[in-house]
Amino acid sequence: MRSSGWPLARLALHLLVLLTRSYCSLAEGPTYRPAVEEAFKTMTDGNISAILDSLQTGYDKRIRPQYGESHVDVGITMHILSISSLSEVQMDFTLDFYFRQHWTDPRLSFPGRGGLDELTVGSEYLQKIWVPDTFFANEKKSYFHTATTSNEMLRITNQGKVLRSIRLTITASCPMNLQYFPMDRQLCIIEIESFGYSMDHIRLSWHAGDRSVVIESDVSLPQFRVLGYNRKTIISSTSTGNYSRLLCEIMFVRSMGYYLIQIYIPSSLIVVISWVSFWLNRSATPARVSLGVTTVLTMTTLMSSTNAALPKISYVKSIDVYLGTCFVMVFASLLEYAAVGYMGKRIQMRKNRILAIQKMAEQRKTATLDHSHASQDHPDHAPKQTEVRYKLHDPKAHSKGGTLENTINGRADEEAPPPIANLLPHKDINKGLNKLYGCSPSDIDKYSRIVFPVCFVCFNLMYWIIYLHISDDSTEDLILHNQEN
Ligand SMILES: *[C@@H]1O[C@H](CO)[C@@H](O)[C@H](O)[C@H]1NC(C)=O
Ligand SMILES: *[C@@H]1O[C@H](CO)[C@@H](O)[C@H](O)[C@H]1NC(C)=O
Repeated sequence: MRSSGWPLARLALHLLVLLTRSYCSLAEGPTYRPAVEEAFKTMTDGNISAILDSLQTGYDKRIRPQYGESHVDVGITMHILSISSLSEVQMDFTLDFYFRQHWTDPRLSFPGRGGLDELTVGSEYLQKIWVPDTFFANEKKSYFHTATTSNEMLRITNQGKVLRSIRLTITASCPMNLQYFPMDRQLCIIEIESFGYSMDHIRLSWHAGDRSVVIESDVSLPQFRVLGYNRKTIISSTSTGNYSRLLCEIMFVRSMGYYLIQIYIPSSLIVVISWVSFWLNRSATPARVSLGVTTVLTMTTLMSSTNAALPKISYVKSIDVYLGTCFVMVFASLLEYAAVGYMGKRIQMRKNRILAIQKMAEQRKTATLDHSHASQDHPDHAPKQTEVRYKLHDPKAHSKGGTLENTINGRADEEAPPPIANLLPHKDINKGLNKLYGCSPSDIDKYSRIVFPVCFVCFNLMYWIIYLHISDDSTEDLILHNQEN
């Protein structure tokens, strides 16, 4: 009794399962276009041509999928293979990448039979189906790779999901701010947008979240390091409508090594060389002048060669601040020698004048003596018209609040001039004579030896602290490009 009851129950169960299955397949099974259904009815398993041909029957590639129903979601991923240049002069960058677009075209769905759920077909088939009209809004030049055939790939799943991958080299504009050059970071953007379909028709999105943009770990540029990237989705509004736009922002950091070795260190050394002049003898004019002029010229060359490789921008870059200061320092040390030389000349002139006066006074003294010794019949013989004024900037006189000014009047008929020795005490003269305005040329050299290096060191400290701090701005929302391999 028990054994006879079981087969009945099993039969009932089987029937139930069958019924449920057929009901379900009727209710939610995918619907295919008649042509596809027809092809699949008659086709022998594995005839791909038949499937592809059937997909084409009644297919209008001019019309986007789901027209009149909903918008098409186009998912995008990028795999960056290399970044070949980042040009300041052209303000652009060039990168080579796989550009992949994922979308769903229900017209291309087919019954997955015999494990056939995806077709990978030749890219020629792309001519026969609808593809999104994606373009790069900030592109300047682009290049399709065609060796050995067009670098393009097409996959269609049985649910009508299409993947199109293409290898592209794009040169896109990248406006740069070179204010902090060469401690700068540059953010270059690739803008992806549909050319003709507004947001009602096509919406672009990043297909794989954080993994949507992949940068190969060995991507490198001579002057830049890829710090990371960021992806954004925005809406661009134009007069023809609102368009969905994707932004892939790549942050580059300039490697300072080149500029340190080629510009910063040489220019600092040139400034140091210009200080050698302060240790040379004041009378070594050829040595000091040629040192000054050579360093000034070298700085000029360095400045012009640095700016030759950059666009002619009108604002001051941080390298200009450094080179400009170095130039001023070198120029100042040349001027220092000019000041030393001029002061030496003035002092020498004054010395000569005073010596001449002394000599004259001495002569007159003897002449007066001779005159008094001799007969006093011819008083007119005495040098009457030798009136000499001299001015002496004596520090002691300064402290007294006046300038020592004397007039030696050589008129013999007037009272006798005071003895010259009383007028100009020899020790003070020699001390005062070697100074102009309270300092001697050797003092200038002595002070310069301290002041110039101290100024330069202070400038360097300030410069590096300020600029390294300023350029280190926030990069929070950046997905960092891992450098470790
Ligand atoms: C595959 O289908 C095509 C028609 O689309 C037909 O011409 C061809 O003979 C078929 N091949 C095989 C092996 O069945
Ligand atoms: C575009 O979007 C703005 C708001 O973001 C909206 O005001 C405007 O009407 C939209 N334009 C079109 C053509 O849809």
